[in-house]
Amino acid sequence: MDSNGDGIGDLQGIISKLDYLKDLGITAIWMSPVYPSPNADNGYDVADYLGIMPEFGTLGDWQELADGCHQRGIKIIMDIVVNHSSDEHPWFIESAKSKTNDKSDYYIWHDPVEGKEPNNWRSVWGGSAWEYVPEREQNYLHLFSKKQPDLNWSCEELKNEIYSMMEKWVQLGTDGFRVDAISYLDKPIDFPDSPEPSMADGYSFCMEQLIGRDKTHRYIHGMNEALKKYGDVLMVGEVVVKDTADMQRYVLDENEEFSMAIPFVPPVVEIEAWSPKKLKEDLFESYESLKSTGWCARFLSNHDKPRQVSLYGKEGEFGEQSAKMLATFIHTLPGTPFVYQGEELGMTNVYFDSIEEYDDIDTRTYYEGCLLAGMNEADAFKKAQHISRDNARTPMHWNSSKNAGFTTGDPWLKINENYLKINAEKQINDPDSVISYYKKLITLRKENKILVYGDLKFITLCDSDNVISYTRSYKGETWLIINNFSDKEITLSPAEYDSVILGNSKFKKNSISAYEAVIIKI
Ligand code: NOJ
Ligand code: CA
Repeated sequence: MDSNGDGIGDLQGIISKLDYLKDLGITAIWMSPVYPSPNADNGYDVADYLGIMPEFGTLGDWQELADGCHQRGIKIIMDIVVNHSSDEHPWFIESAKSKTNDKSDYYIWHDPVEGKEPNNWRSVWGGSAWEYVPEREQNYLHLFSKKQPDLNWSCEELKNEIYSMMEKWVQLGTDGFRVDAISYLDKPIDFPDSPEPSMADGYSFCMEQLIGRDKTHRYIHGMNEALKKYGDVLMVGEVVVKDTADMQRYVLDENEEFSMAIPFVPPVVEIEAWSPKKLKEDLFESYESLKSTGWCARFLSNHDKPRQVSLYGKEGEFGEQSAKMLATFIHTLPGTPFVYQGEELGMTNVYFDSIEEYDDIDTRTYYEGCLLAGMNEADAFKKAQHISRDNARTPMHWNSSKNAGFTTGDPWLKINENYLKINAEKQINDPDSVISYYKKLITLRKENKILVYGDLKFITLCDSDNVISYTRSYKGETWLIINNFSDKEITLSPAEYDSVILGNSKFKKNSISAYEAVIIKI
């Protein structure tokens, strides 16, 4: 929500919507980075870890927001980006000047090898992961864009600066952190070549060589050590993992690293590899490995993914129905549900007319990559549109007035044209709306420990992979949840069904209709 008409959402805007959030029932807010940043990657390139981006407000506004949250029983989670900073951070500006300055070790510098880059690593968004700085006569490493130089965690002073920065935010009133891109803090000092030099996409490369090194785990544990004296600080890690064993290491209680983890899957993979069957298998595997001493973050949407209705559900005729089904799914699984802005209204992907209208670096570099690979412009655009992170980043739809009530000025990113159909004001007093359904689910979960702590068991009620059904059991009670991930009605094998607790349609017992979800006490 933009409070001052400059077209950019801001802290006062969020403050003006705190009652909306309280009414929705959420108990914590995670904001993507709000620090000063040149915005090469939408704030994930931080130029001052302890400041607030002037467009968003001041530290005073942040304090007002934190107080407003706490008065309403809502916690506030800051996003910290400490694998890299912005190249406009004063540390980097200093570090780049010479090999001997105060901050010379804060980043990862390497001499050129035979006049070339130190090795063949590629950055996540294409091109070499190394950038040469003539002043220092060395290259610096950047796993993301060249405006995001990687920090050198093996430098004690840098590490301690980060730990004390985290402490300062907690002292100000932060209740926890979402820690960005955390799996590759530690880098091998010999910088070996990647065995697959042709690998175009940096994420696969990171997977192979950099993720989950022992020292990375030690650095994360160190964050907890630094924050221990403040009591229970929530730590949510965004991790890249090969398998569940990898995942476990980050979230097992005894390791004291993260309270829960958000596994990162690049949008392209997410879209291409998705199926209800795969979703169920992944769920099963992660649940089994974490059920004794770990905990999960549960989500289908965030600022890096397409809108969930567009990806896992169906826009149009089944828009509302599938939005409610997906909500049921997230809120009835073990783990902490995360709701991404606008998801509670069933917001969908956006279809801008040209690549210039997209702001996201990932969308633009992906489009260029498709062209380089020989694809024609129309096909490349269609693909980029499909995976774009801007699908989720378009402004929130508050009402039916101009610019969806988000701003009185020109919005920083175009508004999705369907805001007249999908907006908060239209839904809030409608008992059948998507948001009303979210409220019921959130309340249900708060009032019934079975949805939080109940054992999970997948069960088969039909021969279709498009239905995901499971029970939750707790203290002698069992609930059955059935979700239809397809636009077809599917016959269910006869079973004893007791009372329906909540659902998005009238449950017919012997079948489940298109995108129907139901929670039944059995
Ligand atoms: C993960 C963040 O969620 C994403 O938005 C960002 O581009 C990368 N990390 C780099 O910081
Ligand atoms: Ca503003």
